[in-house]
Amino acid sequence: MGLFHLVRFEVFCLGVLFQLYKKTDIVITCGNRFDAQDFLERSRNGRIVFAGDSIGRNQWESLLCMLSQGVSNLSTVYEEHGNPITKHKGFLSIRFQDYNLTVEYYRVPFLVVIDHPPQNASEEVQRAIRVDKLHWFSQKWAGANVLVFSAGHWWNQDKTLKMGWYFQEEGTLNMTMDVMEGFRKSLQTLKSWTLKNCDPETGHIFIRSYSPVHYRDGDWNTGGHCDLSNAPEIDYVKPESEPLNNQIILNVVKEMQIANRKAHFLDITYLTAMRKDGHPSRYREPGTPQPAPQDCSHWCLPGIPDTWNELLYAQILSSGFKTRKKGCGKKVIP
Ligand SMILES: *[C@@H]1O[C@H](CO)[C@@H](O)[C@H](O)[C@H]1NC(C)=O
Ligand SMILES: *[C@@H]1O[C@H](CO)[C@@H](O)[C@H](O)[C@H]1NC(C)=O
Ligand SMILES: *[C@@H]1O[C@H](CO)[C@@H](O)[C@H](O)[C@H]1NC(C)=O
Ligand SMILES: *[C@@H]1O[C@H](CO)[C@@H](O)[C@H](O)[C@H]1NC(C)=O
Repeated sequence: MGLFHLVRFEVFCLGVLFQLYKKTDIVITCGNRFDAQDFLERSRNGRIVFAGDSIGRNQWESLLCMLSQGVSNLSTVYEEHGNPITKHKGFLSIRFQDYNLTVEYYRVPFLVVIDHPPQNASEEVQRAIRVDKLHWFSQKWAGANVLVFSAGHWWNQDKTLKMGWYFQEEGTLNMTMDVMEGFRKSLQTLKSWTLKNCDPETGHIFIRSYSPVHYRDGDWNTGGHCDLSNAPEIDYVKPESEPLNNQIILNVVKEMQIANRKAHFLDITYLTAMRKDGHPSRYREPGTPQPAPQDCSHWCLPGIPDTWNELLYAQILSSGFKTRKKGCGKKVIP
């Protein structure tokens, strides 16, 4: 569920349409914590790639807006293939012409390949989630300097096993593999790819932690809402243990680090959990048929994902990011 069009994104940056989405006093925190020109300069001749679910797309849109603040002529920022930034199944690549930089988004909610079931599968099987085969878009990620992966929202019972989407490994369906085990294996597949393709010195790999949803009185498809939440949570107690997703992500990030890669755990879960007021709720994209479910999982922009990008910027700054050298540079053999 992508929420915003390019037109609106540009208008956001000019501050005109902003009111339409502004439900609460979301403070625009570009400026001293985020130096767009510095980020652009460091990224010159480079590629920043987001790959994952629509929450990752939300963060990508936020970064486009934040980086655009360092550009004086917005006509020099455009989609490379002339595609509109509407809800999109494939990928989009925004070029910052003056910096020879592209900031790209690839829609791969599961990161791995979703396939037809094998011939001999039983009838209940609709799709095979091939946990040992990274999505073929990964061929396009080779050469990226910064890679930001997101996965989480699709890794639940409802969007997998209950829909007849089962896990497959080495050509064989495994009817007993559970969702978190499938997630763990898929991240291992991602890890193998990064070890093969990312330069230890210059390739930066981020995996974003789980982004909390805030449905009240139901779920997204049963009348849940969040439009009455118009202030941040102030007495939210951090849970004793991280969501299982995050433990799995953290483990794989550590393994990448041990293998000498610049891997980062983009840990946004707790700070984001406080912001029940930051979702579009019933203020959804124009053309949304009515009545529509509320959106309490994506985020208004400017908003919470801007903070995630400030954290991302801080992390690459602290590891001396520059694109002078190649990043995840080797071409993958398909
Ligand atoms: C733009 O960047 C690409 C790498 O992404 C590089 O191959 C190309 O030479 C650069 N173009 C210019 C004009 O510097
Ligand atoms: C802005 O950029 C566009 C595209 O490169 C160019 O055609 C236009 O002349 C520029 N405008 C200004 C005021 O520099
Ligand atoms: C389906 O075929 C594969 C490969 O030939 C085999 O390993 C697997 O056991 C078969 N599965 C079933 C349910 O018959
Ligand atoms: C299916 O996956 C489960 C959990 O990973 C594993 O314990 C089991 O051995 C697998 N079954 C086969 C036939 O590979």
